[in-house]
Amino acid sequence: MRIAVIGLGYVGLVTAACLARWGHSVSGVEADLGRLQSLRGGSLPFHEPGLSDLVATVTADESLRFHSLDELPTAVQHADVVIVAVGTHDGNGGWQTLTMSRTLDGVVPLLSDRTSLVVRSTLPPAYIASLAGTVGAIRDGAGIGRIPVLLNPEFTREGRALHDFNVPDRVVLGIVDDPDGAGEAVMRTLYGAVDAPVLAMPAVDAAFSKLASNLFLATKISFANELARLCEAYGADVANVVTVMGHDPRIGDQFLQAGIGFGGSCLPHQVSMTVMASQDVGLPAPLLSAVDEINHMQRTLFADRLFRLAGDGADGVHVALLGLAFKPGTDDLRDAPSLTIAADLLARGARVTAYDPMPTARDRAAQLVPGLMVAASAEEAIAGVDAIGLVTEWPEFGQMDWSALRGLPRQAVVLDGRNALIAQALEAAGFVYEGFGRRAPTRPSAPVTAAAIPVHTEPAPFLVADSAPTIGPSASLALAD
Ligand code: UDX
Repeated sequence: MRIAVIGLGYVGLVTAACLARWGHSVSGVEADLGRLQSLRGGSLPFHEPGLSDLVATVTADESLRFHSLDELPTAVQHADVVIVAVGTHDGNGGWQTLTMSRTLDGVVPLLSDRTSLVVRSTLPPAYIASLAGTVGAIRDGAGIGRIPVLLNPEFTREGRALHDFNVPDRVVLGIVDDPDGAGEAVMRTLYGAVDAPVLAMPAVDAAFSKLASNLFLATKISFANELARLCEAYGADVANVVTVMGHDPRIGDQFLQAGIGFGGSCLPHQVSMTVMASQDVGLPAPLLSAVDEINHMQRTLFADRLFRLAGDGADGVHVALLGLAFKPGTDDLRDAPSLTIAADLLARGARVTAYDPMPTARDRAAQLVPGLMVAASAEEAIAGVDAIGLVTEWPEFGQMDWSALRGLPRQAVVLDGRNALIAQALEAAGFVYEGFGRRAPTRPSAPVTAAAIPVHTEPAPFLVADSAPTIGPSASLALAD
């Protein structure tokens, strides 16, 4: 098929490159000339495992070609499908639909009657409701026939984007305007290559299915975080508790990892926007308001604890943050807990040094948080500090020889904001370990017989706390010298 993808940000570039790999002839259109130039030079504007190699392959055999906005007519001229994947975030936690409206104004009059228009960007429900009318009016205004219009929401996780595109759990098609089913038929053919159910439904249902999936994942995480606090209060270990819960297929074992909460471009934005949109139409959203509140509380809780563990402000404490990206496998700092936590600690008077394996994340974090120091290695970051906070569970932090690092910090104390390190290993290496809702591993007893606690950090499996549960109330931690 001939396909044009408009907007080569995260979603668009992954879509364009994967479709080219599937054997289609793809034209990728990018309005930002700087980004276009970088792409043409083989450099990607963000890190996504495998994407750089994939783009190199599909551009080399010309199954993917890049175009500027000026070349839009050429790019969409003979397309069977035109996919719009422009940005819809305003950069301040809200929506912006101006880019989408301008793109539709530019693209829709250029399309032949046999081209299907597919919107892949995530949009507010009110905009979805107006989409059929908007596209129809542009076509009528230009005196040309109607075209099929569909939504095709993406469920892509950063760090797993190629896998999620090639091996999706489901493909969702939202019918905006498709009277004779031609658009749905072409999209079913396009996705014929994947082994997943193709679920077609009215556009508003499709849009809500994407939103609801993210809202539910966010709810699970905030549930796990509140549960962790309860566990701590009663001396239970949340890792054991969620392992048991995860064996119940009605609950599932994913997205129950307690810690500093969710970040990224999707979950925080969609929770807060849904709460705001509900308020606008006079609907209470107490559950999602609590999800949002708990998520922000976790960041403050982490800063409180790290500050306390470091010595409570006595003579300007120095702390290290391991990890800056909102999760492993990406250099994305959008709504990353690390930024809020670093700013909070700095405001308390702490000195903060951070390290992330992604140099781009380090550079950007240093620009975004005035006063934050970044180090070129984990060793450099923890040298001389009063406490270490694990913020992003990059595998390399679990694989470090912690015994060899014992002498580097001034105080060997680790606060694990992702419950991802093996507490016993840290304690054996001479560190004081504290997690979220975890029992201090001071009195070993029989390990739980279940397999390792599932973590969400695919594709890089990480060392999980393997929980040797103790009996009785949680031991309070003493600072090491
Ligand atoms: C999410 C959705 O998973 C994806 O389907 C959608 O298309 C886009 O939004 P993404 O933003 O890439 O994907 O990240 P995700 O893997 O969902 O993680 C979001 C945040 O939740 C991360 O900060 C992660 O560290 C945190 N998280 C995840 C937890 O705190 N605990 C968990 O158990 C799981």
